[in-house]
Amino acid sequence: MRILISGICGFVGSTLARALLEHSPGLELLGLDNFSRPGSEQNRAPLKQMGVRLFHGDLRNASDLETLPAVDWVLDAAANPSVLAGVEGNSSPRQLLEHNLLGTVNLLEFCRRHRAGLVLLSTSRVYSIPPLAALPVEVVDHAFRPAPGAPLPPGLSQAGISEAFSTQAPVSLYGSTKLASEALALEYGESFGLPVFINRCGVLAGAGQFGRPDQGIFSYWIHSWISGRPLRYLGFGGKGHQVRDLLTRATSPRCCCGRAPATGAAAILAEIAAHAAAHPGWLDLSAAH
Ligand SMILES: NC(=O)c1ccc[n+]([C@@H]2O[C@H](COP(=O)([O-])OP(=O)(O)OC[C@H]3O[C@@H](n4cnc5c(N)ncnc54)[C@H](O)[C@@H]3O)[C@@H](O)[C@H]2O)c1
Repeated sequence: MRILISGICGFVGSTLARALLEHSPGLELLGLDNFSRPGSEQNRAPLKQMGVRLFHGDLRNASDLETLPAVDWVLDAAANPSVLAGVEGNSSPRQLLEHNLLGTVNLLEFCRRHRAGLVLLSTSRVYSIPPLAALPVEVVDHAFRPAPGAPLPPGLSQAGISEAFSTQAPVSLYGSTKLASEALALEYGESFGLPVFINRCGVLAGAGQFGRPDQGIFSYWIHSWISGRPLRYLGFGGKGHQVRDLLTRATSPRCCCGRAPATGAAAILAEIAAHAAAHPGWLDLSAAH
């Protein structure tokens, strides 16, 4: 079987590549990256050593995909993954749309041409912000928990948020590029008989991230902590009671992402330190810069 991973030199792409080759050594793995993420370059040589065929290309340019060999499956891990993309100074809205939406369109055309299946890495950021921000909560052990007895919106239960939760705007500009990509991917699947899988990942974190704020709170915090920078809590009273799940490959290598228990931000570093102590190598910061 031949698989193409777009964004293969990013955090998720390189993690997926390593996991796939560990579990299926005979796999023929191709990778495409434009090396726009600072740090991606560091994954180039190790991936080549593992036998990955790397192509330097940009998903925004349809012609960059024209010379790629046919594949059976595409795993799309190329994107600007920052929730602030397009609205802060580092990228324009048009750049975000071109990377995250036009890139999906070009990849879907590639899949249609080669009759390849697609696994699209989407995001939990497709869920509507106002009902999330208005959730009735109480503080238990320094963490927000759903307030007992309070009515919950459709799609939310004590088990978390399901696909039935609202995706009504506003979801962020980043989230809207992913939601639109999801719709197009499903339509291509339906119209052209292609298998399409969508994973609305929450926060993914672990070795190989670079501690930039746009890579999510966990990586940012760990690197801030190590560099002795202050840890700040933003929003919701500034006390750090917000809760996020953390997905990491090491807790469940078979599916590439495991699930660590949701916890309040104020308690997260202690949990991370304990997890790192119990899983040597999980918190490998050697790639940090
Ligand atoms: N990291 C998370 O917490 C998280 C959470 C939910 C969803 N996701 C999704 O997972 C995917 C991967 O995220 P990540 O954290 O690995 O990001 P990343 O920035 O580490 O990796 C993205 C890779 O894609 C490449 N890339 C970007 N635009 C490209 C383009 N136009 N053409 C070719 N290559 C391009 C970058 O150079 C980089 O190597 C994204 O789609 C992201 O939205 C990530």
